[in-house]
Amino acid sequence: MIPYGKQSIDSSDIEAVSEVLNSDFLTTGPKVKEFEEALSKYTGAKYVVALSSATAALHLASLSLLKKGDKVLTTPNSFLATSNSILYAGAEPVFVDIEESGNIDLDLVIKELENGNGDALYGVHFSGNPMNFEKLREIRNRFQIPILEDSAHAIGVPFSGISDASILSFHPVKNMTTGEGGAVITNSEEIYKKVLQLRNHGMVKTPEMKPWEYEMVDLGFNYRITDFQSALGISQLLKLDSFLEKRRTLVQRYEEKLAGSEVRPLYKFRKESAYHLFVVRYHFRNISKEELFIRMREAGIILQLHYIPINKQPYYRNFGYGDEVTPNMDRYYKEAFSLPLYPQLSFGEQDFILSKLFEILESF
Ligand SMILES: Cc1ncc(COP(=O)(O)O)c(C=O)c1O
Repeated sequence: MIPYGKQSIDSSDIEAVSEVLNSDFLTTGPKVKEFEEALSKYTGAKYVVALSSATAALHLASLSLLKKGDKVLTTPNSFLATSNSILYAGAEPVFVDIEESGNIDLDLVIKELENGNGDALYGVHFSGNPMNFEKLREIRNRFQIPILEDSAHAIGVPFSGISDASILSFHPVKNMTTGEGGAVITNSEEIYKKVLQLRNHGMVKTPEMKPWEYEMVDLGFNYRITDFQSALGISQLLKLDSFLEKRRTLVQRYEEKLAGSEVRPLYKFRKESAYHLFVVRYHFRNISKEELFIRMREAGIILQLHYIPINKQPYYRNFGYGDEVTPNMDRYYKEAFSLPLYPQLSFGEQDFILSKLFEILESF
């Protein structure tokens, strides 16, 4: 089977993890800090807190940025965790339509803010393609609201520094992996300290305290990442640029071979995109999307859809969501699907995917 995404693990990763497994610290040891420092250097963010998942990162970032009842402008085109984290903080997601690239439409965001409808912005660099930083900066300067960038897809894109914080995901299908894992990256010392504290039960321990003492000053969690995961992260980070290069080469190849066909890449190749996903659009007429997914799977190829609009999920519908006016998202949902993309996908496999895709589409 050819999956839509997959990790790249080599012997240096295995060695790095084994070394930690043979050491004194499986967790709360030196590798976590080392991983955070490496991420800070790579992304350009002043502060990094590595965590057990990006969902944990979103949760703690939300507790740091949002107040109960805040209306948070966000995208329907993301994984559930982006908007769920707004709910975790007792705030209220407000879903805004997307633009053609699949990213939240920042012009619509500006309109909502001009109408006084929005206390914060949660945007996603969808598929790895950065949101428009100029518009993001305009929003920041004009409206002074908290902004979070969900960069789960965009590891490899430097931290913009425009937002209060950004989050990363190290799930195996992402651009680099720690198994499960995530991080909050920020230039704010205040956010950094809060997230750090919440990662570990809201506990503090200072040198002045007695050896057994600690104080709980906030209601936190156990969202710690382990040392062996961090060692994997350090080792993966060394290869991130080469992973990104392979992703970009494959995308350019997809684009060349799709030229002139009815299967259209979501956006024209951008070297700024970290290409976690390669999304295409097709106007389904004679064959349904379901039929295409089934036929491709029979051929050994797994397609995926990123994403079902979050606001239309049953849980959200129970709270009155789902009927927002989002014509672009509605059309996108009908037309979009993701073709396999990961560094170890060979040109031969890529040609096989495309030949099956054309064969199936042309047989209808
Ligand atoms: C955009 C986005 N945000 C957040 C997450 C949550 O990531 P994690 O699985 O690391 O919790 C994902 C995971 O797929 C994602 O795609």
